[in-house]
Amino acid sequence: MQLLSIRELSAADIQRLLDSSARLKKLSLAGKPLPQFPGKVIGMLFFENSTRTRVSFEIAAGKLGFSHTSFGVMGSSMSKGESLKDTVLTLKHEGVDGLVMRHESSGAPYVASRFFGGPVINAGDGMHEHPTQALADALTIIEHKGKLDGLQVAIVGDIQHSRVARSNLWLLSKLGAEVRFVGPRTLMPRYPGHLPASVHYDLYSGIENADVVMALRLQSERMSSGLVSSIGEYASMYQINSLALRFAKPDCLLMHPGPVNRGLELDDAAADGKHSVINEQVANGVFVRMAVLEAAFNGVAKAPARKKVSARA
Ligand code: NCD
Repeated sequence: MQLLSIRELSAADIQRLLDSSARLKKLSLAGKPLPQFPGKVIGMLFFENSTRTRVSFEIAAGKLGFSHTSFGVMGSSMSKGESLKDTVLTLKHEGVDGLVMRHESSGAPYVASRFFGGPVINAGDGMHEHPTQALADALTIIEHKGKLDGLQVAIVGDIQHSRVARSNLWLLSKLGAEVRFVGPRTLMPRYPGHLPASVHYDLYSGIENADVVMALRLQSERMSSGLVSSIGEYASMYQINSLALRFAKPDCLLMHPGPVNRGLELDDAAADGKHSVINEQVANGVFVRMAVLEAAFNGVAKAPARKKVSARA
């Protein structure tokens, strides 16, 4: 199995991954034996910065008995001009069995998967998708609300540059939640009418009666300049704080994929307050990544190729 996007999965595929995540979480927390994949090597290719995604993939791989090799542009031959194709082919011929890949370009994991020939897992590609983050978010919501179907989920902030928003949009809408995109016009996708989400430019009406409020970081590294007039003005209009949270349901969940810019998209009181499930999202990140690695390798497991013995040997 590859995991390149949520958009191309069916609702049943997503549900299976969520069920496996819950199963592996239960086993892991109870200290019970976990499925093991000894001898399999994962290449962790992180061409963009990452804390929680990279570490949680490494922990997930370790718990399932994989070994891994970590890899970025600095310290590799990509800094000498080697292409992604040649890098992937090199890792393949060195015996790497699967790739987990984060890249600044949307679609880069698709290029890798064309040449690699084994499972490739997208750990975030440009503005396109971040499938395992959406799975961690969904698992967290289900643990609190028991379901996704019928929930109102408001995703607030820099939607245009957010792969987290896109993966969540597809996952939540496929499993029956209603998604609202809330933010300034300049940070909305260009043609939001084509997406299964309603669009709101006003924060308070956008999050009114929401079951889940998901705040996003202003992803300035992917922005051309001039999309927000000033950081202060953005915060005054779109920051999730205790005043804003009064418009959502009293038992709403406050989520954020991290990293949080405190004082900008969230204030401290909201980030650390009773609605916040941010640390649970992080914890669940490990279990969904275990489920994805398990699915990737159960799907492709085959007996090792038998070496041909020549008549003269
Ligand atoms: C996100 C990402 O990298 O897409 N972080 C994450 O993986 N949890 C969100 C962000 O960078 O703002």
